[in-house]
Amino acid sequence: MKHIDSHLHVRGESQYLDDVPPPTEMLHAAVFGSPVAHGNIESLNLEKARAVEGVVAVFSAKDVPGKNVFGPIIQDEELLASSKVNFIGQPVALVVAETPEIARKARGEIEIEVSPLPVVVDPRKAYQNGDFIKEPGTTSMGDVDAAWKDCDHVVEGSCEIGGQEHVYLETHRARALPKEDRCLQIFASTQSPAALQEAAHVLLGLAIHKIEVDVKRLGGGFGGKEDQATQWGVMAGMCALILQKPVELVLNRLEDIQMSGKRHPYSCDFKIGLDSEGKILAYDVSHYQNSGAFADLSTSVLERTVVHSTNGYYIPNVRVMAVPCRTNLPSNTAFRGFGGPQAMFVIESAINKAAEVMGMPAHEIQAKNLLTEGQSFFYGQKVKNCTMTETWNEACETFDFEGLRERVESFNKENFEHKKGFALMPICFGISFTTFHLNQGNSLVHVYQDGSVGVTTGGIEMGQGISTNMASIAARTFGISEERVKVESTNTTRIANMSPSAASATTDLNGNATILAVEQILDGLKEIAAVDLGIEDKGKIQIVDEVVCCDGAKTELTWKDLVMKSYLNRKRLSAHGHYATPGIHFDKATGQGNPFAYHVFGTCLTEVTVDCLRGIYTIDSAKIVHDIGRPINPTVDRGQVEGALAQGLGWMTLEDLQFNDEGRCLSHALSTYKAPDVYFMPDDLVVNFLENSDNKFGPLGTKAVGEPPLMYGIGVFFALRNAMRAFSPQSQLDFNSPLTPERVLMELHKDIQLIPQSREKGVLVES
Ligand code: MTE
Ligand code: HPA
Ligand code: MOS
Repeated sequence: MKHIDSHLHVRGESQYLDDVPPPTEMLHAAVFGSPVAHGNIESLNLEKARAVEGVVAVFSAKDVPGKNVFGPIIQDEELLASSKVNFIGQPVALVVAETPEIARKARGEIEIEVSPLPVVVDPRKAYQNGDFIKEPGTTSMGDVDAAWKDCDHVVEGSCEIGGQEHVYLETHRARALPKEDRCLQIFASTQSPAALQEAAHVLLGLAIHKIEVDVKRLGGGFGGKEDQATQWGVMAGMCALILQKPVELVLNRLEDIQMSGKRHPYSCDFKIGLDSEGKILAYDVSHYQNSGAFADLSTSVLERTVVHSTNGYYIPNVRVMAVPCRTNLPSNTAFRGFGGPQAMFVIESAINKAAEVMGMPAHEIQAKNLLTEGQSFFYGQKVKNCTMTETWNEACETFDFEGLRERVESFNKENFEHKKGFALMPICFGISFTTFHLNQGNSLVHVYQDGSVGVTTGGIEMGQGISTNMASIAARTFGISEERVKVESTNTTRIANMSPSAASATTDLNGNATILAVEQILDGLKEIAAVDLGIEDKGKIQIVDEVVCCDGAKTELTWKDLVMKSYLNRKRLSAHGHYATPGIHFDKATGQGNPFAYHVFGTCLTEVTVDCLRGIYTIDSAKIVHDIGRPINPTVDRGQVEGALAQGLGWMTLEDLQFNDEGRCLSHALSTYKAPDVYFMPDDLVVNFLENSDNKFGPLGTKAVGEPPLMYGIGVFFALRNAMRAFSPQSQLDFNSPLTPERVLMELHKDIQLIPQSREKGVLVES
């Protein structure tokens, strides 16, 4: 089966929010954001903006009809800032005009006076100031302090990990239509329609059932719209409610990058202890998260950082300190991996540093410490159906790891300025929201009289293929062709209380709910078939390829006829399914429990070549063995693995998110922020799915795939580092990401200083 929307996508016929013809008299809103990163608003003058021809209204905090407060976990944010601003671009006012151009022009007429307060952009500084979103927390297993004395090697270090801009193709946007009786219909580019409803409920003072949110598909979300799409939808809704006209709000790229949050940068310290054989005995890590100005999802992201601190390794003594530090940047938010990638980068750094100190290859330490069946994570969960070692061994064998090592070694002997490096990157990622109540899904299935089927679930299509998966699951469970199934838009009047489409769990949760709905309808259909065919036990009946079968033998009765007969006999042809993941629990206070239904495992082998005189490099290959369980649609799943890898590689190498000390984003356009493109991807990219894998928690035996493969991208950092070390074994290289070509060059030659006179002549002089 192809991706269900491919024929529309390639012809440009898929309707994204902007492609739906606008309703008549639709107005356009533009957001006025704070020009400074921290301060008290002394005055706000909107009159000149109001006077611009074509402007319909200008709103500020005073106009918010309900309670001016929102936030997914801690309600610490205002829709429009009333008295204080905390980051550059924080929304302060809304201009509504006849065209987006007029709205933006009038926005330039707004006058604001802010008395500045000190700006903090560094998480360690915020930590020293005692400015946290939540008190620092520690989770541990065993006794780290007692374990150091048993170690032959104890190695310490620190990491500075960069953030990441989502670069979804479709920027934040929403369109709101006023409906009778003070109701609103909002079309939004959001991963979380229910979050938009809940926030609008408080901010606009409307009951939730008065706010209908509809989402056909997103031009990408990647976590950036898990919660930060909410405010734009509410703003459009607020304007539509007050003006009783349709209102659209679209951020352009510049506004989007400046106003919205990104992947959290982290600053981390690690200490790792090993015996002489390379067995890890103790690991102590501190994560200082750069949370940005407000709470947003930061505490939840940090929770996942904590539980993924040991990646796919078993370590008997572990201590993890984590603190979300408040800075004057846009609130950082969900991004594919949700705190997991930062955690895995630190443990890999610790292992690599230990390897360098011990003179033992990193892959030997990695291999000696891989998790095996039944071992416990330090948060209390026992690992089940563990395929960590299987994927590792299969990657080493299938991709001829020994051969690669020899080839790289001889290449490095023969070449001076070009050096090769490689790294193995194991991943182990927990599947389920760490927030217990979000682990539920819903599905509404209709079978129509002609045998066609409509499916609505709580899942949002953001390019990851949820619609394809839902159609596949419904069709296979019914026993009919996928062509009969249409997947509807995601709509809050058909599915209530949806969880965000996130945590890679959307297919699991909504697919299992779809199976439950389909089974209810099938039950009635089988009853009718049994009567029709004169069979006593309806349990013998199955539908295969649209034909009713009894004990595996085909009968004359077809799907279409059966549906019509069921309708005429007044059988139920619609059903709602609700699924809640069984067996999970997690105590947020102690950090202990069984937060995940299962884990996803895999291993990636990466090879790079670095030009050590210029800093530039190519990624020669990335070869992956990934445990996907039983794939629903291998093409869609492969697309997810490759796309996630691309984002992981970009995060580690090219994507250099920069803010200056005043909290201004310097990489706020795609000319100054480099995302990886198809040319950057490895020429040799292999994705093998682990064979004979299964998963009882995934619909039809599948495993979640959206986020885990992003972390394969971490391997490139250590492959580059190994190539750099081959050139310059003495260099004290740091563990700071991203490792841009510029930074590779500076790192390799940091013992060489540019002196002022020689800089003019472009001469490097050894210090
Ligand atoms: N793939 C595409 N094409 N576009 C996206 O926005 N988001 C990722 C991943 N893959 C994303 C994507 C993120 S962050 C998550 S959590 C999952 O998809 C969400 O979808 P799933 O739960 O169906 O895997
Ligand atoms: N992953 C993604 N999104 C989330 C999670 C999670 O674990 N918890 C709450 N939102
Ligand atoms: Mo994904 S970061 O859970 O939206």
